[in-house]
Amino acid sequence: MKFFVDTAEIDQIKELNDLGMVDGVTTNPSLIAKSGRDILEVTKEICSIVSGPVSAEVVALEADDMLAEGRKLAKIADNIAVKVPLTWAGLKTCKTLTDDGIMVNVTLCFSANQALLAAKAGATFISPFIGRLDDLNMDGLELIEDIRTIYDNYGFETNILAASIRTANHMSDCAKIGADVCTAPPNVIKAMANHVLTDKGLAAFMADAEKAGIKIV
Ligand code: E4P
Repeated sequence: MKFFVDTAEIDQIKELNDLGMVDGVTTNPSLIAKSGRDILEVTKEICSIVSGPVSAEVVALEADDMLAEGRKLAKIADNIAVKVPLTWAGLKTCKTLTDDGIMVNVTLCFSANQALLAAKAGATFISPFIGRLDDLNMDGLELIEDIRTIYDNYGFETNILAASIRTANHMSDCAKIGADVCTAPPNVIKAMANHVLTDKGLAAFMADAEKAGIKIV
C-alpha cells in the first residue's frame, strides 16, 4: 500500500519523505488555507520535493471553470494529480483531463455508486473519506471494502485512495482490505510506530544496559 501525506506543510513533507514514507501528497483547499501560502507556489515546492503524485484541488464548481483551473494546476509539474469533487461537473472534468493524459483524483466520495462513476470517468484515484463517515456513525472501512469488490469485479484500474484517515488503525485496516493508497496527516503516520509494549520493553532494556554498564561506542 502506498502512503500519501495529507498536508501542505513543507517541513513535515520533507521529514517523512527523507524516511521513504512518502509516495505522494494530497492537499485540499482547507490544507492550503492552513499553510497560509499561495496554492501555485506551495504546490510547486511540494512537487519539487516529492516525485510521486501531488494532488491539487480545483475550487470552481462549473465544469468549464474546473477544466481551466485543472489545466493550470497540471502545468505546475508532471506529477500533479488534479483533484475534482465528486459532482457531475467534477466527473465531466475528470473525463476531459484524463483524455488529455492528466492524472485526476476524484474527491469527496461517500458511496460505492460515486466510486463506480469515477472509475467510468477514468479517474486515476478515487478518494473515499473514511473519517467523515465514521463521524456520522457510518462505516468508512465498509465503503473501502465495497469499492475494492466492485473495482476487482470489473477490472477497473482506478486506484482506491483512502482519505480522511484519523487513526493509525485506519492505516492497517485499509491495508488489510486492499486500498491502493492511504493518505494521512503526518501525526497519524508517526503514530503507527507507537506501541505500549515497545515503550515498556525499551525501558527495561535501558535499565539493564545501565546496570551492566554496556557501552557500544
Ligand atoms: C484528502 O484527500 C482529503 O481531503 C482529506 O483526507 C480529508 O480529511 P479530513 O476529513 O480529516 O478533513
